[in-house]
Amino acid sequence: MNVSRITGVGMYVPENVVTNDDLSKIMDTNDVWIQERTGIKERRHIQKGDGNSTSVMGAKASRIAIERAGLTPYDIDMIVFATLSPDMYFPGGGVEIQEMLEMRTIPALDVRNQCSGFIYALSIADQYIKTGMCKHVLVIGSENHSGGLDMTTRGRGVSVIFGDGAGAVVVSESEDNNRGILSTHLHSEGKYKKELMLEGPSTGYWVPEIMADNPQENIPYYPYMNGQFVFKHAVVRFSEVIQEGLEANGFKTSDIDMLIPHQANLRISQFIQHKLKLSDAQVFNNIQKYGNTTAASIPIALTEAWEKGKINKGDLVVLAAFGSGFTWASAVIRW
Ligand SMILES: CC(C)(COP(=O)(O)OP(=O)(O)OC[C@H]1O[C@@H](n2cnc3c(N)ncnc32)[C@H](O)[C@@H]1OP(=O)(O)O)[C@@H](O)C(=O)NCCC(=O)NCCS
Repeated sequence: MNVSRITGVGMYVPENVVTNDDLSKIMDTNDVWIQERTGIKERRHIQKGDGNSTSVMGAKASRIAIERAGLTPYDIDMIVFATLSPDMYFPGGGVEIQEMLEMRTIPALDVRNQCSGFIYALSIADQYIKTGMCKHVLVIGSENHSGGLDMTTRGRGVSVIFGDGAGAVVVSESEDNNRGILSTHLHSEGKYKKELMLEGPSTGYWVPEIMADNPQENIPYYPYMNGQFVFKHAVVRFSEVIQEGLEANGFKTSDIDMLIPHQANLRISQFIQHKLKLSDAQVFNNIQKYGNTTAASIPIALTEAWEKGKINKGDLVVLAAFGSGFTWASAVIRW
């Protein structure tokens, strides 16, 4: 079996910074509430006319990751694109990346597992490399949340949390048996699908039905989140799936050099850190600057941690996520 290794990382966020004070001008919220509950100070939002979209941001992050891997887009054998906010209902964003980066007519796969999407996508790349089907797989997480949020007081429980951005990695075949993606662990529990969802327009709730219902609360085309319910499940599943990954490889929490949790909420990350008895140096968070960017949050955090020199050759890096579905996942990597 081949070994797969992350050989390049990249990220892109829009220039437009939206602070908590900026949000308090358009809805009834405030900096203290948002920081106390989520740790978020600011996030990035796409602006009309700045040329960005989910796929455009994904392509920008990808170019950086490919260059850092010492490759060109022509070398990539497959694209796996995780997002819940594609530019179009169909086709998916993967084919747009193929076009934008002028790649060969390689397979382009779209993954819809929300906050766990990046690790699900990484797991697919890992399998294609390990079985020898591909040499280089581009894995992307990108989200354009801002355009689809209810930016009024009615939607404040959700809209203050989410931000826009993209991250990407290149996963390559490696000859070094001592480094690489050691394992990935994926889970789902669909009975909680309605606790964090965007219901329509969809084949279950088409535009004419929504217009006929004309709902004033729980509007189906805005995301719905049962915040406290999500929080309670997140802290349990995050811890479980991190332990599962460590145990599968014979490690303990003290062996972790860097845990990169999906940036759902700083309070969730701190809860997990405390529960697993990890030091500040063992956990990387940047939700304070970018909010929750769903499938993009892990590759953005991974890239920033790497750029800051917090991830080095030989480090044991653990990625973990929880989100809508519910789905949750982890990846254990010897960097
Ligand atoms: C969303 C979350 C921050 C809300 O915090 P909470 O303590 O549960 O707050 P509640 O929803 O109970 O709301 C408490 C009060 O604050 C108000 N409120 C909600 N959003 C607000 C905002 N942005 N600004 C100010 N007040 C707000 C509510 O209306 C409520 O007011 P009331 O007491 O008068 O009814 C929290 O539940 C959470 O972090 N959940 C996990 C979310 C998550 O991680 N999602 C991503 C998963 S991938």
